[in-house]
Amino acid sequence: VEGSVEDEQRVVLERLRELAGLGGVMSKEDLDSIGRRVNSATVPEDVFENLSQLHDVAMRYKQYARLVHPDRFSGTSQEPRAKDVFVKLTMWKEQAETKIRAGTYGDRKPVAPPTPKMGPSVIKTPKREYVVSDLVATGDLADVYKASFTEDSKTFEVMFKVSQSPADNDLLENESRVLTAMYPKDQVEEKFYRYLPKLYDTFALRSPSRTARRVNILQRAPGYFSLAEIKKEYPRGIDFRDFVWMYKRLLAGIGYVHQHKDVVHGAILPSHVLVHPTEHGAKIVDWSYAVPEWSKQAGKVKALSKPYKALYAPEILDRKPPTPETDLYMASKCAVFMLGGNVETNQMPDSVPRQVQAFFSSCLLKGQSRRPGDAWKLHEEFDDLLQRLVGPRKYRPLSMPTR
Ligand SMILES: Nc1ncnc2c1ncn2[C@@H]1O[C@H](COP(=O)(O)OP(=O)(O)OP(=O)(O)O)[C@@H](O)[C@H]1O
Ligand SMILES: [Mg+2]
Repeated sequence: VEGSVEDEQRVVLERLRELAGLGGVMSKEDLDSIGRRVNSATVPEDVFENLSQLHDVAMRYKQYARLVHPDRFSGTSQEPRAKDVFVKLTMWKEQAETKIRAGTYGDRKPVAPPTPKMGPSVIKTPKREYVVSDLVATGDLADVYKASFTEDSKTFEVMFKVSQSPADNDLLENESRVLTAMYPKDQVEEKFYRYLPKLYDTFALRSPSRTARRVNILQRAPGYFSLAEIKKEYPRGIDFRDFVWMYKRLLAGIGYVHQHKDVVHGAILPSHVLVHPTEHGAKIVDWSYAVPEWSKQAGKVKALSKPYKALYAPEILDRKPPTPETDLYMASKCAVFMLGGNVETNQMPDSVPRQVQAFFSSCLLKGQSRRPGDAWKLHEEFDDLLQRLVGPRKYRPLSMPTR
């Protein structure tokens, strides 16, 4: 629906009020009114109206954000709603910015034109029918497609991960074995399983030439971005306060698999850590390289992700058995990478507090046994450090302006 005459009049009136220095609409806005606005909006123009400059949008966002910020409603029954409104407000701001940059702000059209899709193809197995659509990623040894299947009249959105060559089937088989073994046994484990992608199925896909490629069907994490994608958005690095929650989730997920499941991931890299920029969830993906029963037998990481060779722990490059210390080393390498540091020297920008730098550096010692190996303990120490350094936690949504 195009803006009505009343809408236009209201906009003009607000503009006049603002010009007259009467504070305009702002004085009347609160969680209710802003909530209504972000919920009923269909395009960013519904929220930011005639503000067509990045600066004005940023100012209006700041004013609204202050009024609806979840920290203001902390501990009250309004808190969940404030969080929801804040997240939506942030999303609309990002869309407004994207449109302003693209010169399309004001056309009242959704932000990105729908991407052309290749025709979906259907893959039948004895168990199910998978509708496979867009190629999402060409990873190291596999291709990952969006797919879905329907069961009990419910549709499941999944990832269809297929090995590029039959020679790499064993890696995908390793992934499916590890993910199956890590399936939660009780409620405590379930709490941590949210950091891993659920495995729905695994099967061999036969081609006419009779070679078979392994397929793993994994739960899709909608709205998540890999650290690699976030780094592309912020080539000079992100603020350390935006990285801390990602790091903490990562530690929680790794701590679970190390201690409850006796597994080392073996490839904690920016492409394998997915995070949700506003909900602050995390998922650790690609378990192809994982080493099960690390405490009982000296397993090895069977392959490397070549684009990230510089981020690997020395023991993996030396073909020695990985341990929890290995995953924690690589998690801290991810930190250096994400904060805009030099992954060869581990030097981090001056904007990262000295103590935080020292914390990551302690996980990056060359000697495997000299590094911390207990992810839970590290998590606790990191929390203490942050408490001293920045005080109580504050919610910070991360924006992905071009996405
Ligand atoms: N469950 C998932 N939800 C959302 N995105 C995913 C998921 N799994 C993978 N991806 C995306 O696909 C990319 C490639 O996935 P992954 O690393 O598992 O495959 P790969 O590297 O091709 O395979 P291999 O295990 O053989 O190295 C990831 O970096 C991520 O961006
Ligand atoms: Mg991978």
